[in-house]
Amino acid sequence: MEQFRIAAIPADGVGREVVAAGRAVLDAVEANGGGRFAFAWEEFPWGSDFHAEHGVMMPEDGLEALRAFDAIYFGAVGWPTVPDHVSLWGLRLRICQSFDQWANVRPVHFLPGVQSPLRKSDDTELDWVVVRENSEGEYAGLGGRNLASRGRGGEVAVQSSLFTEVGCERIMRFAFDLARTRTRRKVSSVTKSNAQQYGMVLWDEVFARVAADYPDVETESVLVDAMSAKFVLRPEDLSVVVASNLNADILSDLGSALAGSLGIAASANLNPERRFPSMFEPVHGSAPDIAGQGVSNPIGAIGSAAMMLDHFGLAAEAARIRTAIETTTAQGTRTRDIGGTADTAEVTEAIIANLPR
Ligand code: NAI
Ligand code: MG
Repeated sequence: MEQFRIAAIPADGVGREVVAAGRAVLDAVEANGGGRFAFAWEEFPWGSDFHAEHGVMMPEDGLEALRAFDAIYFGAVGWPTVPDHVSLWGLRLRICQSFDQWANVRPVHFLPGVQSPLRKSDDTELDWVVVRENSEGEYAGLGGRNLASRGRGGEVAVQSSLFTEVGCERIMRFAFDLARTRTRRKVSSVTKSNAQQYGMVLWDEVFARVAADYPDVETESVLVDAMSAKFVLRPEDLSVVVASNLNADILSDLGSALAGSLGIAASANLNPERRFPSMFEPVHGSAPDIAGQGVSNPIGAIGSAAMMLDHFGLAAEAARIRTAIETTTAQGTRTRDIGGTADTAEVTEAIIANLPR
């Protein structure tokens, strides 16, 4: 029997509700697995409550503890008691960067029975993936603040973007390899090289170089502002969209919203070389406005669990989860954010009941 060790970090707000839902689905998948595989869970109580008690988001040796796991299953971090940049950098970004999870894969997937704000989605097959550079770019964490001594109004801040050839090339090759597995073999590069004449021009040059190695894959290069319009007006022309850290962060939220809700969007933070554990989490945050009410949509987290199973090589099991999600939304068991009245537990139970045997 193959055993997979998973570190669960539910963290804050609805992160706790949706990670519990994802675990329940994986328990059911394991129970139906005929003893071929098992998931060994360990849960870590890190997050904003932990910060209130210990003054840090995770312990000093926390990364060491995570290293031995096959994957990390993450909820969401952020709570009004801790400044967002402290909670995000202290936990999620710390894990992503320390474990070189340089590829963040965020499918924009339209579900049956979920109304999209795009009228086009009723009669057009829409399905694309945002591939986010997850280790550098605008979130490299380089910069500083100084000159506060000048007094009120005198302080300065520098926030630098970092673009390396290595970083650009590996995420672009990843995007092209992914495009080769899809029906439409196309990669759209998101740039802003008209205004950002150093980093984004390097990005464009690397894209052109990598594209030459994939003559069977169609390409385009689109400025980020035009791409945000294209997401709304011509999404049927997209298959794989590769973008820098900030641009992809914004565009993937737009994509989730177009598919109907942030609550249904899944994501994987991958270290493709497998030198470190990869991390799977819904795209959404801790949603303090609805946390604790039991009404959060668990589909983003459950879809992320399916991506984790793909990473484990359990592709058939991952596909069963995706089928169960689609059956559930199609039959009308939906949370409020996607036009239903069901709560988190009801949707989770329905997905478990709909798992194909
Ligand atoms: P958010 O994603 O938490 O919420 C945005 C909107 O989407 C809210 O109206 C919320 O109710 C709704 N929503 C989110 N998840 C949902 C779900 N599962 N079901 C139904 N509705 C859902 O983003 P917001 O409000 O900007 O940030 C809240 C906190 O989360 C902040 O502290 C922020 O820093 C943090 N955050 C953390 C992320 C992470 O850990 N990966 C990602 C994004 C934000
Ligand atoms: Mg985001």
